[in-house]
Amino acid sequence: MRYLTFALAKGRLAKKTLEILEQIGFSCEEMKDPNSRKLIFVNEEQKIKIFLAKANDVPTYVEYGAADIGVVGRDTILEEGRKLYEVIDLGLGRCRMCVAGPKEAKELLQHGELIRVATKYPNIAKDYFYNKKHQTVEIIKLNGSIELAPIVGLSEVIVDIVETGSTLRENGLEVLEEICQLSARMVVNQVSMKMEHERITKLISALREVLTTKEV
Ligand code: PRP
Repeated sequence: MRYLTFALAKGRLAKKTLEILEQIGFSCEEMKDPNSRKLIFVNEEQKIKIFLAKANDVPTYVEYGAADIGVVGRDTILEEGRKLYEVIDLGLGRCRMCVAGPKEAKELLQHGELIRVATKYPNIAKDYFYNKKHQTVEIIKLNGSIELAPIVGLSEVIVDIVETGSTLRENGLEVLEEICQLSARMVVNQVSMKMEHERITKLISALREVLTTKEV
């Protein structure tokens, strides 16, 4: 039997994903050692390998088949636009992708004016403004603390993740339009889905079962 390789987005999501994988019988004790600098973990008995990668890189590993399976936020999946199958919503890290800004910016959006949009997600922003709203905008790529942009006059609005809404509130900004709902998804390499169909579908059903019982 060949190894089934998982790429998990580093951080809180990886920790929660490992808990779920454990519930369906996959475990990797080695991963629990906080002092370990190891990047890839192997469970010889179950023939699985698990590695942690930067979230943005997870879809790349999966598209190229370096990982059969990935777990990453839908924001990253949409932004990266890689060829892969999205197979299951893990329901972790639920939040929304929104257009936000000061209240006054709502009018600029309604009138389709040429505005500047700051974001860490230029592809999602482009798709939303160009293809869905048919509004020409200037997209400015930033790498973090996006809420600063309208405050200091870099842009009129932002496209960003809103979870509790407190970052917006504390900075005098609000949600102006919702683009889509987000949460962590499991993605599968298209060839692996065919070659390892039985193992992967079994895994998906086991996950579905655990996730539905969790919701009850
Ligand atoms: C994210 C996002 C918002 C914030 C939203 O930023 O970009 O800034 O969380 O959460 P809230 O609605 O609960 O306030 P993150 O903390 O990942 O850091 P970043 O600003 O560096 O991207």
